[in-house]
Parts: sequence; structure tokens; C-alpha cells
Amino acid sequence: MEALSTAVSARSQYFLDLEDKYGAHNYHPLPVVLSKGQGVYVWDVDDKKYFDFLSGYSAVNQGHCHPAIISTLIEQASVLTLTSRAFYSNVLGEYEKFITEYFGYDKVLPMNTGVEAVETAIKLCRRWGYEVKGVPENKATILVCSHNFHGRTSTVISFSSDPSSYSKFGPFMPGFKTIPYNDLNALQEAAMDPNVCGFLVEPIQGEAGVVVPTEGYLSGAKKICEDNHVLFIGDEIQTGLCRTGALLACDHENVRPDILILGKALSGGTLPVSAVLADDEIMLTIKPGEHGSTYGGNPLACKVAITSLQVLKNEQLAANATAMGELMRKKLNEIDSPFLKLVRGKGLLNAIIIEHQNPEAAWELCLQMKELGLLAKPTHGDKIRLAPPLIINSGQVEEAVSIIKKALTKL
Ligand SMILES: Cc1ncc(COP(=O)(O)O)c(C=O)c1O
Repeated sequence: MEALSTAVSARSQYFLDLEDKYGAHNYHPLPVVLSKGQGVYVWDVDDKKYFDFLSGYSAVNQGHCHPAIISTLIEQASVLTLTSRAFYSNVLGEYEKFITEYFGYDKVLPMNTGVEAVETAIKLCRRWGYEVKGVPENKATILVCSHNFHGRTSTVISFSSDPSSYSKFGPFMPGFKTIPYNDLNALQEAAMDPNVCGFLVEPIQGEAGVVVPTEGYLSGAKKICEDNHVLFIGDEIQTGLCRTGALLACDHENVRPDILILGKALSGGTLPVSAVLADDEIMLTIKPGEHGSTYGGNPLACKVAITSLQVLKNEQLAANATAMGELMRKKLNEIDSPFLKLVRGKGLLNAIIIEHQNPEAAWELCLQMKELGLLAKPTHGDKIRLAPPLIINSGQVEEAVSIIKKALTKL
């Protein structure tokens, strides 16, 4: 392997040291210090420009600092930001109408971070299990998939299969059963248990390394859920909002989740906004005082979410994600490198798998790509997710792939 020239400037080092000294060490970032973002690009403190191929883990689908989203943010921030749900606001109802019509559900429950929305979906599903399905008290079971990623709270890590997520954080929350992903027989068998009230699934497993299930898996799973009176809970926090070339990844198989979980790009990367959507039979099982959040549904978040959703449609970002994703995979597949084992993905949620004798090769490739002006991050060792903002154009895709190609020659 060629010697890497990944020296960090004194200016960058100052910020690295600050975070190292005063911040918890719960992340392992690439050594780049960003100070500006616009569209598909970010700039570091030395004014070096990069393609952003992570997009804040798919929160920045609309591109950094999208002018319409920022203008809504500033406008609403100067009028009213937070009322709490102790009072009504003149914005929440407008947002609730907008988002439920946009996705075709009776009701929405607004939250902030993605994992809070997952927690909300779990509570709703359990409540529905007791009140509608008739599961005996405290016996509700939710099926989850191996190698899932749904966030970091104590409940959610209780059903993670990644030791770095759950080790030494026990005791764990009961009531979850893990089955293999992309395995309809396993789901069929597990769903027959009368205490099972939900199946929580990522339509594509993002953090696991962009694992795309076999075509027919989602529609087959939905059918099994229907047949067994089990709620299909779609975690579209990473896959939703046009990332995979459709508004929702479940749309590729015409599957309508009974409970839909959204987050990330719902605010175009400006503030934490998440949402759970469901019909009345499910949503109205939670009564006043039984669930909530101080910031959930705040006027600032509501206005920003409306604009963020409008941008997705106005700029036809699903169609662009499809076209640019196809181009990206085609160009990546043309790269002749012994280290590029596999290219996979859907729309603009893609990954490359690196095969190299050095177990750190994917990390080193990311360092090399950074030097050449493209930011991406390995997930689970040998996989690198490639997920630029959905506004990327073909010239930019070609330029980005040529950077990846050049970086591979340095391995
Ligand atoms: C599928 C999925 N669910 C849930 C989460 C958690 O979202 P947050 O980090 O906003 O809590 C993530 C974050 O990456 C995710 O990809």
C-alpha cells in the first residue's frame, strides 16, 4: 500500500483536539473539520471543497442549506419556535394535514429524533396489540430482523445484533424476537405466535451496509403480517424521502406500512424532526397524557418539514435519485480494481464492498478519497456507503466516481 498523505492542518488539528478533550468519545469521525455546506458540497476550515457522499446519514437529501428550507427556517424562527403541546399552535394542524395527505394516513404523531419515532412506533404497536388484537397484558412481542439498526436508546439496542451497540448496556428490554432478514419462512413461522403484534423492518438495511432484500420480500412480508393480524412497521428513517428512488422504499413493492416511521430528511438536515404515521385504529389507542415530547410538533419543525417535503416533489428528487443511482452503479462497476468486490444499492443509497488483506482498507480508502475531495465513511469494516444529496447531477456523479477510482489505485 502506498504511503498515505493524510496530514491534518494545524487549523483542523485545533478542532480535533477540542472535541477530543471536551467531548465524549462516542464517535470515530474522519479527520476533517467542516465549516460550510452548499448543495452536494461541503468545505473544511481550510476552505477545501468536498463532495458529501454521506449526506448526514441521509438527512441532507435536499442538499446542504437548501434555499427554500433555510428561508422557511429563518422566517418561522423569527415568529414562533416552541409552544409545547400544552397549547395549540397555528402551525401544527396545518402540518398534520399536509403530511398525512402527503403519505396517505389518517394521523401523524410528531417527534424529534429518529430513535424517538421508533420508540413511539413500538409503544403504539404494543398498545394496539393489547387493545385491538387482544394480546394478554405484558405479553406483546415485536419481531425484528438480525443486523437491524433502529437507533441507540436502551429499548432499541435491546434488539440489536451488533455487540458494539449493546455490550455492557444491559439489562435489556424484553418483548422482541429476532428473525433473519430477507427470510419469509422465518417470518411466517414467527408471526403465527398469537402474542406477536408487529414486525419492525428496514426496507433496505442501511447501517448494515446497504443490504437490499430480494424483490418480493417486502410485499411477501406485508402479506404474512396481514394474514396473521400483525402490524407491518416500516422504518423508513434512512430509506424514505426519495433516497432509494421512490418516496418510500416500500413503494417499490407497493407496500403500505401499517406504521410508517420517518426522520432525517424530514427537515433537510436543519433540525431533528421525526414522525410516526398510522391510521386511526392504531393511532387513537394512545390517549392524552400517555405519550409526548416537549419539542415534538413545534412550529419551527412543522414549517420546516412542510417545505422539506415540498422540495422533494417540486425538484422530482425520486426520479433524480433513480437516474443518478443507475449512473453511479454503472460507472462504479466499470472500475477495474482487484479491491472493489461489489457495488450494490438502490437509487442513491449505495455501498461498495472492499476486499483487501488490510482489514483497515475501507477506512484508508475513505482517507484517500478525502484527500482527493470526497467524503464517505465505512460502515461495518469493509463496506463504504455512497449516498450523496439527491440533487446531484450526472457531471458530478462522474467526477465523484473518478475520485473513487483514483483513490482505489492508491490502495
Ligand atoms: C433505519 C434507521 N432507524 C433509526 C435511526 C435512528 O435515527 P436517529 O439517529 O435520528 O435517532 C437511524 C439512524 O441512522 C436509521 O438509519
